[in-house]
Amino acid sequence: MPIIIPSPCFVIEESKFLDNLRLLKKVREEAGVDILVALKGMSFWHYFPLMKQYLSGACASSVNEARLIFEEMGIKSHTYAPAYSEADFEQLIAMSQTISFNSLNQWGKYAPQMLQHPEIHAGLRINPGYSEIETDIYNPAVPGSRLGIPLEQMPKTLPEGITGLHFHVMCEQDSFVLERVLKVVDAELSHLLQQAQWLNMGGGHHITRADYDVKHLIALLKDFRSRYPHLKIILEPGEAVGWQTGFLLATVLDVVESGGIRTAILDVSFSAHMPDTLEMPYKPTIRGAGEPNEFAFTYRMGGSTCLAGDFMGDYSFQNELKAGDHLIFEDMIHYTMVKTTLFNGVRHPHIGKIDTTGHFTLLRSVGYEEYKNRLS
Ligand SMILES: Cc1ncc(COP(=O)(O)O)c(C=O)c1O
Repeated sequence: MPIIIPSPCFVIEESKFLDNLRLLKKVREEAGVDILVALKGMSFWHYFPLMKQYLSGACASSVNEARLIFEEMGIKSHTYAPAYSEADFEQLIAMSQTISFNSLNQWGKYAPQMLQHPEIHAGLRINPGYSEIETDIYNPAVPGSRLGIPLEQMPKTLPEGITGLHFHVMCEQDSFVLERVLKVVDAELSHLLQQAQWLNMGGGHHITRADYDVKHLIALLKDFRSRYPHLKIILEPGEAVGWQTGFLLATVLDVVESGGIRTAILDVSFSAHMPDTLEMPYKPTIRGAGEPNEFAFTYRMGGSTCLAGDFMGDYSFQNELKAGDHLIFEDMIHYTMVKTTLFNGVRHPHIGKIDTTGHFTLLRSVGYEEYKNRLS
């Protein structure tokens, strides 16, 4: 029987997701490190109980994320945000096992409260000033970055109460980049690493990508651990957890032509539903489609909002597109649902899963109430 999926719909494919989780668990076990899921990239909470079986926990960047982890995974989060308001901090203390601070000011402000909670590990986010990310909007180590304490501002000894360090300077990168980052961290911070109990190496590790050299990562982490055997090592990828685990189903609503360009108007929006395609930017893969003119019929894909730039081009197809045709945008599980907006009041995609037996289940439909309740 063909699977009937309502459109538009984000659909996670459980068997692919399990493959990612198994690989991450293998890295955890063989390298002897903790791997958390970063909710900012992957907050598919229906699967939190499953993720809990394979991963070491989760990291949060806000009260909402910490609460989702607490309620749906039943554990306390590793928390980091560029700054905490007093109201948020009160709540984070109750829902965090680790809290990392982005500046010595913030640590100074909250140290008295943290010292009353020795069960919560306190960390400092450092900025090693080294990264190989070419897209500035994703580069936490650009000159003047607000993210992390610059090396020259770090004290020679860890402040009383600080038990660990955190850095995040990678994006969709391999273990050879991590190796070069660690060289800098090692050279500049080994005196502080000797004093610390844990080191969080952030996200951006593209561990589940097909060509990622997992063996090299494991060897690298083991080598690092042999030099700092007292340190607990933590990685917190988001994207790698949800990488290539599902798609966004869309439908063609109309086909228009202007200035010689044919555009298929879709029931999804690049701006509202796939914002990274415009921010990064990158051209998402459409199943079965080719490069422009590779097949007989070339189209631009038009988003459903009024934003003039809400389009993506160009793709070619073997058959002419017509209203009612379905399109599948690949790899739309990480950094999509968490970044969607209801701009223009557009219909938010449904959320569903295809389980390991091939059965589709609709998990959620977002309707008018969600739109109305965010406004007043
Ligand atoms: C502090 C921190 N940790 C983890 C992540 C997750 O990164 P990724 O999804 O690229 O693995 C991010 C992403 O921005 C981050 O800022």
